[in-house]
Amino acid sequence: MKKLNLPIKWKLTLWYGGILALILVTFSSGVYIYFQSSLQKSIDAKIKSIAEVLSSSMTETHNQSLFGNFERYLENVLGKKPKGKFIQIIDSSGKIGAKLNDLEAEAVPVSFLTLERALKGETVYETIETARPRLRMITMPILENKKVISIVQVGSSMEDFEETMKRLLIIMIISIITAISATIIVGYFMAKKTMKPVDQIRRAAVKISSSNLDERIDIKGRKDELGRLAETFNAMIARLKDSFQRINQFSIDVSHELKTPLTILKGETELALRKERTNEEYKRSMESNLEEIDRMSNIIDDLLLLSKAETKDIRLNLGRVDLRDLLADVCMNMKLFAENKGVEMVVRDLEDVRITGDELKLRRMITNIVENGIKYGRGGGQVAVSSYLQNGYVCIDIKDDGVGISGDDIKYIFDRFYRADRSRKRESGSGLGLSISKWIAEAHKGTIEVKSKLSSGSLFTVKLPI
Ligand SMILES: Nc1ncnc2c1ncn2[C@@H]1O[C@H](COP(=O)(O)OP(=O)(O)OP(=O)(O)O)[C@@H](O)[C@H]1O
Ligand SMILES: [Mg+2]
Repeated sequence: MKKLNLPIKWKLTLWYGGILALILVTFSSGVYIYFQSSLQKSIDAKIKSIAEVLSSSMTETHNQSLFGNFERYLENVLGKKPKGKFIQIIDSSGKIGAKLNDLEAEAVPVSFLTLERALKGETVYETIETARPRLRMITMPILENKKVISIVQVGSSMEDFEETMKRLLIIMIISIITAISATIIVGYFMAKKTMKPVDQIRRAAVKISSSNLDERIDIKGRKDELGRLAETFNAMIARLKDSFQRINQFSIDVSHELKTPLTILKGETELALRKERTNEEYKRSMESNLEEIDRMSNIIDDLLLLSKAETKDIRLNLGRVDLRDLLADVCMNMKLFAENKGVEMVVRDLEDVRITGDELKLRRMITNIVENGIKYGRGGGQVAVSSYLQNGYVCIDIKDDGVGISGDDIKYIFDRFYRADRSRKRESGSGLGLSISKWIAEAHKGTIEVKSKLSSGSLFTVKLPI
């Protein structure tokens, strides 16, 4: 079966309209049937009581001569003139002894089958469908010494009953139609109102593009599911906006970062070409150019690594790494750089521990952090490296007593291109070192934490699982 693609508001409306119709029709049918049967029972009780009174009066009196004025006889026995009734007495041979017909219909057919059953001593109730109006009739045998001496038939017009049932039916149909229409109309508008935010969300989504991320869905304090959906949607747009801004900022930073060495390169080259130079001068100029080219090349390498890391395009070259050897080796290598800066390189207790990791990357991470400690260190100060075990992790502390990092900056130092002090940027580097280090630590399921106070040094702690 083909699925109907009705709007939700219509589906909802039809569903509760349909369910209400089903409930009302079932309930009304029940009421109608109950009413019908109880009305019929009350008619039956009435004709039965008349038949019984007649039956007993006749067995008492035996006075058939009274039939001469049957109407008077009935008035005497029943206490009043019977209205809208058909009453007749039939003797045992089947002859009509007396008859009263206070009905509009003239001929009241008497079925032989009924008479036969009455002659056998049975009381029969029946509805005479052919009479107009219909007739409810009781046929009761009058017994004497267990023998049927005659039969009394009492019929009552069902006109009032039919009229009442017809009215009830009309009232029910009108109420059902009114209730269902009202439900459908009210339901439709309610469903429409409820679904309005969905449409708002859809329209907002259509409008959103990378240049238009200020668009928000106005839900006016709704706290229901749709309100939360809109909120979620708004939060998503905000995150997208943030990401786009970061990408934008990143492009600006990259261009800026590459532009500086290029400008220097250009300036140097132009200067060298301005007049004839000695070989020595050319060599010096080329050397200076090579420095800038190295610098750019490093930035591009770093960026490439970070981009690959971000798209998970990079794999760790895992192996057993002796962390103590690695730390000692890095410190050895950095010793000369530290001495040039007037900083002492101190190696404290190193835990003898082996972990699974990518040796080159781990080396790069530690070098970055130690190098920072030296670069941002204080002349005459020191950078100390130590390691210890803690809850299944090996912790590597790299502590310096240099410039430190302010509370404002510390949140950002792991961001790409972030440098706390931009004015010293030529010597400080490109601001990618800690981003890369953080990625390396996380790729090894570890963390990097930093504690620092401005002008009293910093402590970087790398935690790696063993
Ligand atoms: N030990 C430290 N003491 C004080 N400031 C630090 C220290 N380590 C990092 N910082 C601050 O954090 C910033 C980011 O460090 P990061 O290593 O990412 O970049 P960088 O050293 O400037 O450049 P790169 O490492 O790419 O050559 C640095 O510019 C510096 O301001
Ligand atoms: Mg650095």
